[in-house]
Amino acid sequence: MGQSLPKVALRPYLAQDTPMLAAIFAASIEGLTGDDYSETQQQAWAGAADDEEKFGKRLATALTLVATLEGSPVGFASLKGADHIDMLYVHPAAVGQGVAASLCDALEKLAKGRGARSLTVDASDNAAEFFARRGYEAMQRNTVSVSGEWLANTTMQKKLDDATRPGAPR
Ligand code: ACO
Repeated sequence: MGQSLPKVALRPYLAQDTPMLAAIFAASIEGLTGDDYSETQQQAWAGAADDEEKFGKRLATALTLVATLEGSPVGFASLKGADHIDMLYVHPAAVGQGVAASLCDALEKLAKGRGARSLTVDASDNAAEFFARRGYEAMQRNTVSVSGEWLANTTMQKKLDDATRPGAPR
């Protein structure tokens, strides 16, 4: 008899989550992005969490949600303003269990609640297919400088303006 996967739960970010989320951020980049980015690019990217105070400010300034499996944080995502996904990271040990999908579902609802008609994301090359499957369309290719390394990503956009938007006719 097959075992069912543990259920993903979401909660708001708390300041004391910062070290754990910094560790998930680094592990996610190291473990999941090697097909698309070189080791030096990965190191530069993961270095964004080295200064935990700065990383914590980035999480706190956005609307950040923490995903847990059986009570343990395994991923997080953040909504910047009303209409931009700033971060989405899942620990390598927890991929393929719907963690990112749960986080994105919630951010898309929150964006609608903030009045956004569309949501953008600067998707890493390894995450672009994940977003495309959710209805995000590629708008623009970017190359960004991170600690002296150049990393490519793609700005993608999803229209949220459907019948489920608050205030829309049903
Ligand atoms: N490519 C193609 N399809 C994918 C990928 C992928 N890399 N990842 C997940 N999917 C599919 C799954 O198969 C699943 O499909 P299904 O519904 O048909 O079964 C669906 O997308 C949902 O998958 P989840 O299990 O919810 O995704 P997961 O929790 O494994 O996380 C993520 C995906 C976030 C891309 C993870 O691999 C990750 O953290 N990657 C490294 C960090 C990263 O690049 N983050 C994004 C940076 S851009 C930014 O932050 C805005």
